[in-house]
Amino acid sequence: MNTAPKPRVLVARQVFDEVIEKLAGHFELQYNQADAVWTQDELIARLQGMDGAFVTGTEAIDRRLLDACPQLRAVCTMAVGYNNIDLAACTERGVLVSNAPDVLTETTADFGFALMMATARRITESEHFLRAGRWTRWGHDMFAGADVHGATLGVLGMGRIGQAIARRGALGFGMSVLYHNRSRLDPAVEAKLGARYVDKATLLRESDHLVLVLPYSPASHHAIGAAELALMKPTATLTNVARGGIVDDAALAEALRERRIAAAGLDVFEGEPAVHPALLQLPNVVLTPHIASASLPTRLAMAQLAADNLIAALGQGPHAGRPPTALNLQVLGAR
Ligand code: DGY
Repeated sequence: MNTAPKPRVLVARQVFDEVIEKLAGHFELQYNQADAVWTQDELIARLQGMDGAFVTGTEAIDRRLLDACPQLRAVCTMAVGYNNIDLAACTERGVLVSNAPDVLTETTADFGFALMMATARRITESEHFLRAGRWTRWGHDMFAGADVHGATLGVLGMGRIGQAIARRGALGFGMSVLYHNRSRLDPAVEAKLGARYVDKATLLRESDHLVLVLPYSPASHHAIGAAELALMKPTATLTNVARGGIVDDAALAEALRERRIAAAGLDVFEGEPAVHPALLQLPNVVLTPHIASASLPTRLAMAQLAADNLIAALGQGPHAGRPPTALNLQVLGAR
């Protein structure tokens, strides 16, 4: 019988009960099912003596935290994006980091497409009008927006989610698909998606509906600012399901106010959950609270994947030592 003490793990946010149960089978567990808001100092205090942390996209795993928690060996996030985790600092300290790719690709692509369509066809703007009791008669151009079918879809960031959005556009809606990415896709993949690689300026100039799906990093900070917006068509829409900070929200609000682009759909914001006040005042922007991956089955799959990573990273379960989606697996070899 194994009498070794169980590793200690903190679950930083509320998560599905079945995931808590799974983790509790392997760890001495502290959790936050009340979803209390912790300051960074509280998070650090709660991580004292913990071997592992189950986190989301909202906890900052930075150098100060890592220095204050030297016993930490694994940080597993249920998000695919991990710009809240200092991966280099974790790797230097031998802390394994994992994220949750793949399981959310199709769900996030569905939402990206839906947000783009809602933006192009002015769905929320017209709903607000109706709810306000302002609909008195039919009008020939009432809430007339832009077509999606047959239009040019631009995808900035052609990873898994970008490709899933491109597929929807090309196969489902007969769109011409342009993309720009750090590296060009294999020609066979391009052909399958019906997507054409172009430089960023061409993408901005030619897209009718531009969708952002690139990861956030210092290099992608304000990848869409005033200069980029100035290249876009006045009839174009911009949809962001990637990360806040990729778009300069103040510059976007200005461009929307002056109708230099037609409309925007935003699921992510600089400094969220705060939203730039100018965006809140504009009719031609659809705003959603960072929910692109939020279908119940997908959020559960993301949380289960993070749990599986944590269990394996801390030497538990049938896949001990082989976390399925580690970002710095080399730290396990070095232990
Ligand atoms: C992700 O998985 O990165 C989503 O944006 C949720 O944080």
